[in-house]
Amino acid sequence: MKLTFSQTALSEVKADVLVAFIPSDTKRFAEAQKRITTEFPETKALFDSGDFKAKAASTAMVYCGGKAKSTRLVLVGIGEVEKVTLEGVRRASAAAAKTASGKKLKSLAVAVPSGLSLEAEHFGEAATEGFCLSAYKFTRYFSDKERTGNTLESITFCSDNKKVLADVKKGAEYAETVCGGTLLARALANTPDNDMYPEKLADAAEKAGKDAGFKVTVLDKKKIEALKMHGLLAVNQGSKRPPTFIVMEYNGGGKNDKPIVLVGKGVTFDTGGVSIKPAAGMGEMKMDMHGAATVISTMTAVAKLGMKVNLVGIVPATENMVSGSAVVPGDVIVYTNGVSVEVDNTDAEGRLILADALLYAQRYKPQACVDLATLTGACVVALGTVTTGMMGTDAQLKSRLKLAGDYTHEYVCELPLYEEYEDLIKGDITDIKNAGGRYAGAITAALFLKRFVGDMPWTHLDIAGTSILSSDGAYTPKGASGVGVRLLCDMLRKWKG
Ligand code: BES
Ligand code: MN
Ligand code: ZN
Repeated sequence: MKLTFSQTALSEVKADVLVAFIPSDTKRFAEAQKRITTEFPETKALFDSGDFKAKAASTAMVYCGGKAKSTRLVLVGIGEVEKVTLEGVRRASAAAAKTASGKKLKSLAVAVPSGLSLEAEHFGEAATEGFCLSAYKFTRYFSDKERTGNTLESITFCSDNKKVLADVKKGAEYAETVCGGTLLARALANTPDNDMYPEKLADAAEKAGKDAGFKVTVLDKKKIEALKMHGLLAVNQGSKRPPTFIVMEYNGGGKNDKPIVLVGKGVTFDTGGVSIKPAAGMGEMKMDMHGAATVISTMTAVAKLGMKVNLVGIVPATENMVSGSAVVPGDVIVYTNGVSVEVDNTDAEGRLILADALLYAQRYKPQACVDLATLTGACVVALGTVTTGMMGTDAQLKSRLKLAGDYTHEYVCELPLYEEYEDLIKGDITDIKNAGGRYAGAITAALFLKRFVGDMPWTHLDIAGTSILSSDGAYTPKGASGVGVRLLCDMLRKWKG
C-alpha cells in the first residue's frame, strides 16, 4: 500500500474515494456537518435526511458533483468522540475500505479527525490497519480476475496540522509494514498442502528472508535425522513428502544481546494420522501451519522495520498423514533430552514436533522463547475465536504479551500450568504420553511442551481458535486470520531488555 501525507483539505486532493470520520455526539456531529457541507455541498441532502447518525463503523456514500476533484465521499461514523478507541478506528477504517473495495476503487484519501483522545501516531497506525487488513480475499486460484479482494493501492492522509501529519505518518508507516506481515501470514496459511508442503514452506521462508533481509537455513531430512529430531521424524514417517526444519536469524540488536526465539508449528496438513480426523471440515487443516506462517511473517516485518532486536525463528515442518508407514498409537519416542513419550494419539502431533524445535531453541540461550501453534481443539472450546490461549513459565514475558494483546486487540488470555494437571499426561510405560484425555486439553498440551523448554523463559500461544476463522470479522477474513504478527511486532518494538 502506497502511503502519502498531505497538508491540505480533503476537498483539495484527488482520489477515487474520500473518507471523513464523523463523531456521533450532538455537538461534534453538528460541527462536522457544518464543515463537511461547506466543503462538500452535495452532502447537505444526506445530512438533512437524518439517515446518517455516525454510529460507530456505519457508512454513507455521497457523489460529489460540480467542481469537486474526487467523485465519491464516504462518511464513516466513529461514535462518541471521547470514547473512540484504536479498535474503533480500525473498524471504521475497515468499513471505509470495504466500501471502496466493493466498487474496486484504488485510491483513498482520508481526513485526520480532530478532537480524538488518541495520539495522532496511534490513530495513523489503527487507521492503516483497518484500510490494509479489511476486504482481504485469498485470490490466488481465481481464474476470474474480476473476483478481487481489497483493491486499495494508495492512501492519502490529510491534515492542516504539520505536527499531526508527521505523527500520523510514523504510525501509518509502521502499520503498513506490519500489516504486510499479517497479509503474508494469511496467504501462506491459506495455501493448501499441495502448494505449501514442507519444502515449499521452506522456499517461502527463503524468499521472505531475501526480500526482508534475514538469514534462512533449511535443514533437510538427512540433517533432521543427524540431529535426532525423533518427534518430527515420527510425525513425518507416514508422509511421502520429507520434513524440513527452518531456521531464520535476524540480527538487528547488539552483538552480545541474547536473541528472542519464535517457534511456529508447521504442520502443512493434519489428517490426524492413524487416529484420523472426521471428514467434515478436515480441509481447514491445511492451515495447521499458521504458527509457522506467523513466525515467518513476523521475521519479515521485524527485519523490514529494522527493529533493534536479535530475533530467531524456528519452524519444524511436516505433514501428518495416514499410510502403511505412519506412526501408530503406542509407539514410543525418546527425545534428545532423554524424555520418553508414548504416542497415545497420532492427532496430537503438534506437540511432538514442537518438542524438537524447543530443544533446538535452547542452543541460542534466548532471553525469551515464544511458540505459536494451532495446537488444540480444547483451546477453541475454552476461548473461541476471539482470544489466543497463553501458557508459560515467565511472568514478565506473559505480561508483555498480555499488554501487546490488549493494544492490538489480538487478545491473549492465560490458562494455568498448575502441576496437578501433570498427572493427566503421565505415561504408563514412558515418562509422558502425548494426549491427556478430554479435560484441560489446552493445558496438558502446554505441560507437554514445558518438558522441552529447559530453563528458557518461555510462553506458548495456542492460536487454534484465533487463526482459523469460519466467518468474516470487521477486518479479519474467513480462513487464515494472520493472527500473531501484529501482536509480536508490538511486543518486540516495546521490548527494551
Ligand atoms: N491441529 C489440531 C488442533 C486444531 C483443532 C487446530 C481445531 C485448529 C482447529 C491438533 O493437531 C489436534 O488435532 N489436536 C488434538 C489433540 C488431542 C488428540 C489430544 C485435538 O485438539 O483434538
Ligand atoms: Mn492433530
Ligand atoms: Zn495439528
